[in-house]
Amino acid sequence: LDKLPVLDKDVIVIGAGIAGLFTAIRASEKHSVLMITKKSLLDSNTRYAQGGIAAVISDEDSFEYHLQDTLIAGAGLCDREAVDVLVHEGPKGVRSLIKMGTQFDQENGEFALTKEGAHSQRRILHANGDATGFEIVRALSETAVANPKIEVWDDHFVIDLVTQDGECCGAIVQKQNGERLFVRGKATILCSGGAGQLYRYTTNPEVATGDGVAMAYRAGAFIRDSEFIQFHPTALCYPGAPRFLISEAVRGEGAILRNIKGERFMERYHEQLELAPRDIVARAIVSEMEETKSTFVYIDITHESPEMVKHRFPTIYETCLRYGLDLTTDWIPVAPAMHYMMGGVRTDLNGETNIKRLFACGEVSSTGVHGANRLASNSLSEAIVFGRRIVKRIEELPELEAAPHIEIELERSSAPIQAVVERRLKLQKVMVRYAGLKRSEAGLKKGLEELKRQLPIFQSILTEREEYEFANLLTCAMLTTEAALQREESRGAHYREDFPARDDANWRKHTVLHRTQGIT
Ligand code: SIN
Repeated sequence: LDKLPVLDKDVIVIGAGIAGLFTAIRASEKHSVLMITKKSLLDSNTRYAQGGIAAVISDEDSFEYHLQDTLIAGAGLCDREAVDVLVHEGPKGVRSLIKMGTQFDQENGEFALTKEGAHSQRRILHANGDATGFEIVRALSETAVANPKIEVWDDHFVIDLVTQDGECCGAIVQKQNGERLFVRGKATILCSGGAGQLYRYTTNPEVATGDGVAMAYRAGAFIRDSEFIQFHPTALCYPGAPRFLISEAVRGEGAILRNIKGERFMERYHEQLELAPRDIVARAIVSEMEETKSTFVYIDITHESPEMVKHRFPTIYETCLRYGLDLTTDWIPVAPAMHYMMGGVRTDLNGETNIKRLFACGEVSSTGVHGANRLASNSLSEAIVFGRRIVKRIEELPELEAAPHIEIELERSSAPIQAVVERRLKLQKVMVRYAGLKRSEAGLKKGLEELKRQLPIFQSILTEREEYEFANLLTCAMLTTEAALQREESRGAHYREDFPARDDANWRKHTVLHRTQGIT
């Protein structure tokens, strides 16, 4: 047995998207902060956010409208108190982002606001047209790197959280060269994002492997609503191209959807047409694809002025052009792709989990804001609103008493786990097939069976990042599939072919999973 080297910091932030950067910067006002990212500050889901960040800014808007839109999209499962916090504190959070250097687009001296699905008002701030996430990451990472109170570790992988007597006192971290150490802190904040890589088709980057949810689950946190997976309706679907996001803001600025026969079809599905809630648009697209035996539908904004399209959507325009598709003149082939995980590590209104000193912020968390279906552009707002609250709560925490030293058997010689890349691909296919946009008891049971065949990995000694990521994905896959099997109704993003109706009498409640139920 070897004692792991120890590093002491006040606050440990795991992840470097908007949640990680924002909370690290706020926490650094009173604390020393260690921010750990498994790749670099430029690799997070935030960086790819296009549409923007929702907040009540316009005089025509109100907290009540934003609240109602969020509750309606959430299909009866939002925690109203959490949504209240979100809408009331959103504008303050946006002002903090601006103070940290973010520059949002303006028109005639006012913030330019766009609209997205299920929003009754224009309330979405954006930056450089459709590069909102990139601008936020640029500004916040510059601010964080220049701050001597924040130490940033790139290319470090957090293996597990460390708990003692029901409190989290830090994490075990592996460097790129395989060395491990124990980082100790009075507060640990999971900001590690979602698990887009659960599915073969996703708008998320390769790093989105659900590490935070899996390690919190192992540590004894409650995982809530993991069946609710949001598929973005319109990801580019073209041979050789990645599933690049075609922002909902494109529909917000007038784009329509057509099936491969050229017919506009959303009238048949919802009165809000192309701007119906995301789950409805995504399932409508899948129905059209099935009916026309196609793997895509089209998004068409060719009727709007080419100048407006290029000015508002420069990134989408340029990316499509790289594949020979001109957004101003061509209909663009699109299909739904995994985009966001509504559930996650359950927290209270201060972002604290059931494990003391362990917090979760951003996509990894389940604050209660999103319910069964997240309203577009509420995720960036959630991260900053609850990030502020977490930092305030941490200020009240007493120092850690007698945190442990960790003794560990340093296994370096185990043979690598075979075929991790193939295993991940197989898992993604199982999830698409059995736990995707349309689910059933029979399918989910088959999916669980297939996933369970991979469980022996938990008896192996893991050493490589890819192995840990696969194990974490497997945990998340089991959590999603198990919760989807439990929920015998259809609500928001969760659709069961064998229970197609919403069942408020029995199911207006959350699913909550805990490791004592022995899922993995
Ligand atoms: C988009 O731009 O369509 C994505 C916005 C979001 O997911 O909130």
